[in-house]
This record gives sequence, C-alpha cells and structure tokens, in this order.
Amino acid sequence: MRYFLVKICSIILITQAVSFVVNAQQVQEKSLSKQRQQQLIHILKQDCGSCHGMTLKGGLGSPLLPKNLKLQSTKMIANTILNGRPGTAMPPWKPLLSKQEIYWLAKQLKQGLKHEQK
Ligand code: HEC
Repeated sequence: MRYFLVKICSIILITQAVSFVVNAQQVQEKSLSKQRQQQLIHILKQDCGSCHGMTLKGGLGSPLLPKNLKLQSTKMIANTILNGRPGTAMPPWKPLLSKQEIYWLAKQLKQGLKHEQK
C-alpha cells in the first residue's frame, strides 16, 4: 500500500514535468509524434495499469479491454479519462495529459493494444 502511494506521487510529479514540456511542444504539433505515442502507451501500461492491471484486465479499476468498452463511444471513454469518476479512485487526467492525448488513448483502448506493443 505504501509502495502504491509512493508510486502515485512520483507518477504525478513525473507526468506534470512531462506534460509541461509536452504542452509547450503541442503548440506547433498537430498530430502526436511516434515517440509521444510510445510514451502514452507506456503511461497506459504503467500508470493506468497500476489500477487497471498491466494488461488492462482490471484490478482496483475496471477492465479496459475493447470488449469491456464496447458500449461506450471514444468520446465517452475520453470524458472519463479527462474528468475521472468523482467518488471513485479514477482520477482526472486533464491536468496531466492534453485533450488530444486523452482522445488518442481512448481510441487505443477502443481498438485494443497491439500485441507487439506489450
Ligand atoms: C488510482 C487508480 C486509477 C488509476 C491510476 C486510473 N484509473 Fe481508471 N478507473 C479507476 C476506477 C476505480 C474506475 C472505476 C470507476 C467506477 O466505479 O465507475 C476507473 C474507470 C475507468 C474507465 C471507465 C471504464 C468503464 O468501464 O466505464 C476508464 C476508461 C478508465 N478508468 C481509464 C483510465 C486510464 C486511461 C487511466 C490512465 C491514464 C486510468 N484509468 C488510471 C481507477 C484508476
């Protein structure tokens, strides 16, 4: 449990530092760079994975596999990631990731992660 809290705190610090740099870059960049996409996949597995499971099959957080999200549009998923779910452990990611990045992540969840990205 303590490890978990330490991890969450360090994640928040790191992602804040990263998002600061990234936000500055985004002014010029319309689409996400390949490198940023890889970072986001990493965030998905490590940070989201700390609650949703490394393979997104669920843990403290609900499973996030395509079959689990079938009934939700990309926009609905993105809204959950943007704003979190008040009253649950799901935090808002709006302060840490851009809207564009969150939509991209929502799309990846909808499609399912490719095998080679594991
Ligand atoms: C601190 C734990 C925690 C972290 C970190 C976390 N989540 Fe969650 N998430 C939850 C919980 C708990 C729920 C279930 C909320 C509920 O009961 O409605 C949830 C729900 C969701 C849902 C809605 C699923 C559904 O079936 O409606 C999505 C999508 C989601 N999370 C995506 C993410 C993404 C993407 C990240 C990383 C950027 C992330 N979560 C990080 C705890 C977490």
